[in-house]
Amino acid sequence: MFGTMRNNVGILEIGGVKTTSLVEQYGTPLYVMDLLLIEENILKYKLFFQSKHFKTNIIYASKAFLCKGICQIIEKYDINIDAVSDGELYSIKSSGIDMQRVHMHGNNKSETELEMCLDYGVKSIIIDNEEEIEKLSKNCQLKNKKIQVMLRLNIGIEAHTHEYIQTAKHSSKFGISILDNRIEEIIKKIIEDENLEFLGFHCHIGSQIFEINAFYEAIKIMVKFTKLVSEKLDIIIPEINLGGGFGVFYSVGDTPIDIEYLMTALIKCLEENLEKEQLKIEKISIEPGRSIVANAGTTLYRVGAKKKTFDDTNYIFVDGGMTDNIRPALYQAKYIALVANKMNDIKDELVSVAGKCCESSDVIVKGIKLQKTVVDDIVAICSTGAYGHSMASNYNKLRVPAVVFVKNGRSYLGIKRETYEELVKNDLPIDI
Ligand code: LLP
Repeated sequence: MFGTMRNNVGILEIGGVKTTSLVEQYGTPLYVMDLLLIEENILKYKLFFQSKHFKTNIIYASKAFLCKGICQIIEKYDINIDAVSDGELYSIKSSGIDMQRVHMHGNNKSETELEMCLDYGVKSIIIDNEEEIEKLSKNCQLKNKKIQVMLRLNIGIEAHTHEYIQTAKHSSKFGISILDNRIEEIIKKIIEDENLEFLGFHCHIGSQIFEINAFYEAIKIMVKFTKLVSEKLDIIIPEINLGGGFGVFYSVGDTPIDIEYLMTALIKCLEENLEKEQLKIEKISIEPGRSIVANAGTTLYRVGAKKKTFDDTNYIFVDGGMTDNIRPALYQAKYIALVANKMNDIKDELVSVAGKCCESSDVIVKGIKLQKTVVDDIVAICSTGAYGHSMASNYNKLRVPAVVFVKNGRSYLGIKRETYEELVKNDLPIDI
């Protein structure tokens, strides 16, 4: 149990609110976000990712989970946020926060997205490929605007995480390889473009990474490469962005490094490498997403039916599934489940928690010992705060669940449950 999750006389409580009351008020499935834990995580990053030798910058990766409430938290705690699409840009803008907090990513930014960045006045754009340099420069010229940019590098590190969420393998679609024989030319192109202000290099080696050595290695390469380029091209490079990817605990076998320890270690590693290379850097950024919101999220479902199959698999069927949490089906992700209204009962039933979608892979947790459940019990899946809501779909025309923030005994509806009307609002009859 994370953050403010408690067993209150047999009932799971989060943020001082009983989950049974939450489902009564908001229905199921329901994403519950522990506001205090999100705030604590942000404060830890701010406190421990600090150095006397350079400024630091925390950029929350909004793809992990984005809504107005999250943007309000970003502003309140004075950190920054990234975006990778027109939709994320629009969502952030509509929250009303200062767009100078926004850093724009994406490996295939459209003209519209680049225009939006300039019109909205984002802080910086992280260039992914050569075409983007020209596209962006042309847009700047048209709008008579300059923009700060970084260049995303592929530094060739294979972090040990699920294949789909590794991003810096040589074959990765992201960034430009430091081994590319045109890399110098590409950097020069940016530097010489008067519409672009080159800030430095970015890398992101993958997601859900537990090995600290992968980050040490990334720092070493980034510092070395920055030094090399600054000498070769005789320029001052003020910034480095190391991306995110810090792993969290989902289930047995996960071995995350706590934020305090990890950030202290990364700062030390940065300072040592900068010292070794005799490189002066003004600002270092990181982009944590999952590690800020994952453990703060719990999904509540209602049990609708149970089934024992011919081979003795015991299923509990819940009223959501791969539509609100695609991660088990997509990455074989493992989760912990609890029976939220029977926390004091003995866990003596071996079950699999399956969703209601027409898909055999729609099983959220396979083979877990839980309390004996009956129809209408509440099953909680822990640590669903990242890449749950943000990857939700309408498969089988299921509606995206509501998101409620909880803190100090109060609940705040952050995203309303999708309505039936919203499901069909873009459907048009065709003239046949
Ligand atoms: N920065 C960049 C450039 C990224 O591409 C990502 C994640 C992050 C930061 C944040 O990474 P985090 O701290 O959240 O690990 N859907 C997958 C994760 C995909 C991550 C994509 N990029 C999942 O559910 O595991």
